[in-house]
Formats: sequence, structure tokens, C-alpha cells
Amino acid sequence: MAKLQIEAVELQNRSVLVRLDLNAPLKRGSVDEEPGVADDSRLRAALPTVKRISNAGGIAILMSHLGRPGGTIKNELSLRPIARKLSELLGQPVTFVPALVGETARQAVSDAAPGDVILLENTRFYPGETTNDSELADQLAELADIFVNDAFGTAHRAHASTEGVARRMQTSAMGMLMDKEVNNLSRLLSAPEKPFIGILGGAKVSDKIALIEQLLLRVDFLLIGGAMAYTFLKAQGHEIGNSMVETDFLDMAENLLAAAADRLILPVDHVTSTSFNNDVGSNVSDVDIKPGEMGLDIGPETRKIFREHIFQAHTLVWNGPMGVFEMSNFSAGTLAVASAIAEVTDNGAFTVVGGGDSVAAVRGAGLADRISHVSTGGGAMLEFLEGKILPGIDALSDVNV
Ligand code: 3PG
Repeated sequence: MAKLQIEAVELQNRSVLVRLDLNAPLKRGSVDEEPGVADDSRLRAALPTVKRISNAGGIAILMSHLGRPGGTIKNELSLRPIARKLSELLGQPVTFVPALVGETARQAVSDAAPGDVILLENTRFYPGETTNDSELADQLAELADIFVNDAFGTAHRAHASTEGVARRMQTSAMGMLMDKEVNNLSRLLSAPEKPFIGILGGAKVSDKIALIEQLLLRVDFLLIGGAMAYTFLKAQGHEIGNSMVETDFLDMAENLLAAAADRLILPVDHVTSTSFNNDVGSNVSDVDIKPGEMGLDIGPETRKIFREHIFQAHTLVWNGPMGVFEMSNFSAGTLAVASAIAEVTDNGAFTVVGGGDSVAAVRGAGLADRISHVSTGGGAMLEFLEGKILPGIDALSDVNV
């Protein structure tokens, strides 16, 4: 069953409650200065749906979480600075409302006119949000005629503002960003054009076991970098020095290697250091790392091998950095992968990059426009690609196609 799309909903003179993922990093100025938005990509990604509602003469009532305040009011996690930035990006006023539900929120909605945009306060200031409390979901549902979920980054959470409210509204539609994410990520799951290359990095194998298993059903090669590679290398019997390892997952890594050794591509050399520090210098090590050293990036030969595999791709997905890319001595592997992906995209491959660090690397290198799809989802993208049903999508209105 397909989900109702915002394009199919009459919006004029209707109040539309929209769940966005405006969980953006803030940058703080002096004590009495309001913080600014350090990376506005999630705000930009939300603009098409907000503009659609406003231009159609609907009232856009926006809500989002910010950080993890744990059900209490934390002033430093207020959405007020987000409202200011959103207003700048939209080119129209965004009225900030210092409440999510209750009289203040109801009054703000009834004061709004068609075309107006208002932003409610952080959903996670309310303890009922993450517990998907039915009373909070009822109060949210009373605020508007229509619900739209455009928060792909939070679609894996069954919260009051995602799942609970959607099930209470007669009309719960998918927003334009949600639709774009689902379409692009679905291309990786159903009949991806071959060769299909997967690249995984980041700290822990344990976070990505389900994804590795799912990807191995589809990809021609799965390149593994980042700290998670050391668990695989140790399982193969290599020396890894002081590198990070998840000993509880050595058996799992061994099983995966036994099942798909010819398709799992691991580092053959490393950039190492004696400590997790950019100031103590770095060395290049062959596959076996000496005692006292730790692997902090893939080495030059691995970069070459990874690039050769990337250049074969007609379809590619990347999640997780190849090393400690925020330290300049250990960023070369991640940057080499990012630029090879941009090149293969220029040559016509369909490429997807997701996850906070990989997206930051691609953006930092100015390559985001040369990737087919940069996902706004971290955990949500991983769960989608693991084949899980995301509650924030599942709860939306069904339509027959
Ligand atoms: C994210 O940043 O991945 C989303 O906004 C979800 O945030 P959460 O992990 O705190 O639910």
C-alpha cells in the first residue's frame, strides 16, 4: 500500500501540522547572544514542503525535536534560533511559539492567517514525546486539520510527534523530503543497477551488523574502512596493535568473512599513530600494525584499491568515515573516497551518501552537489536500508495506487 503524498492534499485555508527534522548543530556566540545554526542543510531540505503549504494558502504549523533534552526544558535547545534561520531561508516571517501544545500553541494557530508559517517549541521538552504518550499525541492532533511528516531523519522513532499524531489524524501525508528520501533509498533496495558498491566505515561493527548482512545480499563489493575494519582484520588473524576492536563481535566478523570473503574488501595498509591525537605525528603501516601503534585511517595503497572499486560502480552507497577525518593527519582516506564518489557520479553512477560524518566530509570538501543523493537521515537511513519498517512512515494514511 502506498502512502498519501502532500501533492494529493487540498491545502488552501487548512491548518497543516508538519513534523520536520530541524535537529541542526548550533554554534554559540557570547553568553547573551542567541546561538546561530552551524549547518543549515536540514533546514534547507525542509523548505520545499513548507513553501508548498504556504504558497497554497495553508497555515504551516511546524514542529521538530532538537538534541536530546530528556523531557525537560533546556533553554540552550530551544528552537528559537532555528525559527530565525528558517525565516531567512524562506524569505518570509516564521513566528516562533514557545510551546508545543496547550493554550499558547492553540492561540498561535488561531491567530495565524493562510500562508503564515509558525514554529512550535522543541517536541522533546515534553516527556510524552519519546514515550509516544497518547495524551500528548491527542493534543497535537487537535492543533490542525492535516498532518504531514517530512522528518525522514526521525522516521525510525515512534514518538508522539511522528507516529502517535499521524495515527490520530484523518489525513496524514508524506512531505516532499520524505518522499525524495524514500524514492532514492528504495533504488538501492530494489534492482540496483550493477555493479553495486557499498562502503561502510565508522567506529563500530556492532552498529552496522544488520546493514552489512543486508548489503551483502545486493552489492558486488563491500569496502570496509574506519575503526570497524580492525575487528574484521583481527578476525582474519592480523596484528592490529592498539587499534579499536570489538572483541564480542570477532565471531560475527569471522562468519561474515567466511560467507563473503571475496566481496568484503578490507584495508591492506593504514595510517597509524601512537596516540589518538593529531599532534604526535603519523606513520604508514602495512596490514599488520606494530604493538604500540593504532590505525586511524586507511593507508595509501588501500585508498588506491578503494578508488578502483568505486570507479566500477553504477550504483553506490556510503555510510561512515574511513578514519578520524576531523584530524588532518587522518582525513586523507575519507577525502579520497568522497572525491572518487563525486567522480563516478559525474560519469553517470547513482550514488547515495548518508550518516553525519560522511555527509560532513562530503560537504566540507565542497562535493555535495556532485553526489546523486545526500541523505538527511543517519539512524533512519541505516534502518531503512536494513529493510525495517519505519514507524513515522508506516503511520501515514494509505492510498490505493
Ligand atoms: C538525527 O540527528 O539522526 C535525527 O535527528 C534523530 O535524532 P535522535 O537520534 O536524537 O532521535
